[in-house]
Amino acid sequence: MARKLAAGNWKMNGDLALVDGLATLAGNQSTDAPQIVICPPHTLLAQAAKACENSAVEIGGQDCRAEAKGAYTGDIAASMIAETGATHVIVGHSERRDGHHETNPDIRAKAQAAWAAGLTAILCIGESEAEREGSDTLTIIADQLQASLPDNATAENTVIAYEPIWAIGTGKVPTLAQIIETHDMLRAELTARLGDEGAKITLLYGGSVKPTNAAEIFQAENVNGALVGGASLKPTDFQPIIDALAAS
Ligand code: 13P
Repeated sequence: MARKLAAGNWKMNGDLALVDGLATLAGNQSTDAPQIVICPPHTLLAQAAKACENSAVEIGGQDCRAEAKGAYTGDIAASMIAETGATHVIVGHSERRDGHHETNPDIRAKAQAAWAAGLTAILCIGESEAEREGSDTLTIIADQLQASLPDNATAENTVIAYEPIWAIGTGKVPTLAQIIETHDMLRAELTARLGDEGAKITLLYGGSVKPTNAAEIFQAENVNGALVGGASLKPTDFQPIIDALAAS
């Protein structure tokens, strides 16, 4: 059985005041809460990790460079993220694939860099609106997974997040049937490729997850949690999503 995870991606949002609120979020969790990971901007990683030390909340980066070090102005190595006390890093978010022209091989290399630094990679895949309308979604997603996930992925070092690009920040969400269809396919692909480990890898849904739709989304058997953008910026929105996941 895959572990449940509520992950928050702050993207280029948040400040020290929001980091201060993480201690309260951590303090509010019951013992049966799912795993919780917050991914703030890199400048806030160290403070966030300190605020959440020995608590129910873990911290992750939003991207890393595949290389271990070197002349890459503005980039950050996975080991630097790990040194802050973070445990996870998002790789292959569509905002990186689109905005920074990252390819599946780039993302594969980033996942390997994350593992080498002892981080769990939260690897994102998802189709565009045009791809969804062309009804190619399952093939496109399966191809992305195949090409961006390294072979020795385990349930310990990898989380997969399915985020349809057209659902991110738009308030549009796939139907429950569409979510079930994609996640069942992803589970089948992971199990076919990785056996028992594939059956245990946590599979997240992301894209306009809100307190109002979380419980419905978590009904899908192969949805083990969510990667939440906007609603992770407000503890009053994120907590009900955590609670819905715990109850699922
Ligand atoms: P929203 O929850 O704001 O749609 O963002 C989803 C996302 O991209 C998380 O990585």
